Amino acid sequence: MKHLLKLSDLSAAEIESILNLADRLKKERRMGIHHTYLAGKTLGMIFQKASTRTRVSFEAGMIQLGGSALFLSDKDLQIGRGESIEDTARVLSRYLDVIMIRTFKQQDVENLASYSTIPVINGLTDYAHPCQVLADLMTIREYKKNLAGRTLCYIGDGNNMANSLIVGGIKLGMKVHIACPETNKPDAEIMKWASENGEFLCTPDILLAAKDADVLYTDVWASMGQESEAEERKKIFKGYQINDDVLKVAKSDCMVQHCLPAHKGEEITADVFESHADEIFDEAENRLHAQKAVLLKLLMPEID
Ligand code: CP
Ligand code: NVA
Repeated sequence: MKHLLKLSDLSAAEIESILNLADRLKKERRMGIHHTYLAGKTLGMIFQKASTRTRVSFEAGMIQLGGSALFLSDKDLQIGRGESIEDTARVLSRYLDVIMIRTFKQQDVENLASYSTIPVINGLTDYAHPCQVLADLMTIREYKKNLAGRTLCYIGDGNNMANSLIVGGIKLGMKVHIACPETNKPDAEIMKWASENGEFLCTPDILLAAKDADVLYTDVWASMGQESEAEERKKIFKGYQINDDVLKVAKSDCMVQHCLPAHKGEEITADVFESHADEIFDEAENRLHAQKAVLLKLLMPEID
């Protein structure tokens, strides 16, 4: 694995190997075992959008592995004044050991990687959120023990989360059901790939998608960059919500996941959120462990 740009670049074995290492790191942290695998290494984190979890978990993770991390906001970088991604990549490659970028266009991340001589990690684009889905798969595996054959139902916008969940879920043998309005489906190529490579359903019918689900997942109706559409989106997504009625048709031990931040009362009710808060905050915690595993796989490929 040279970069982490999107999950479709990874094999199922590579994803499983990241999850296994993440499990080990989590267990060892609980036991007070600390590592300095990345001593002397520096991560640069370029943010063109806001973040709580991604920023803090990458920065803390790098420090916990003996390295350091730099927060690089586009307000301060010359990118904000028009310096190209390609030139930024060639400069940062001379100073750093690994780059994480959160931005809008997936193509910018791909360009950064192709001009960079060091690994690049996608910390969210409009197209994909691979780091989040690695943590999600890790969490589902913790609760359910196995992923293959489990049904993951995502309710809401066919956005970056939906795209990455489809790819990650199908790669690891899950059945993936998406409930979304006809106007807001996930990426067409990803859906085609999913239909050809696993059990995949995309429907506007929420209860059909949620039937017998092992995991219900949702995300905000308006993603970062869509703030001006928020009111219009409230109309489009009305009803695309995880609530008691939806939980009733899922398996009785169905878990609930949310990448956060949550808009309670929109994509999820406050009651459902609170009654599944342990699962949701375990998921948030697992960002830390999963990303430490990604950093190690990129910088110390021999690690297991
Ligand atoms: N889930 C997630 O990526 O959270 P942040 O936007 O806070 O990083
Ligand atoms: N779809 C959301 C995910 C946030 C983690 C967004 O892009 O804003």
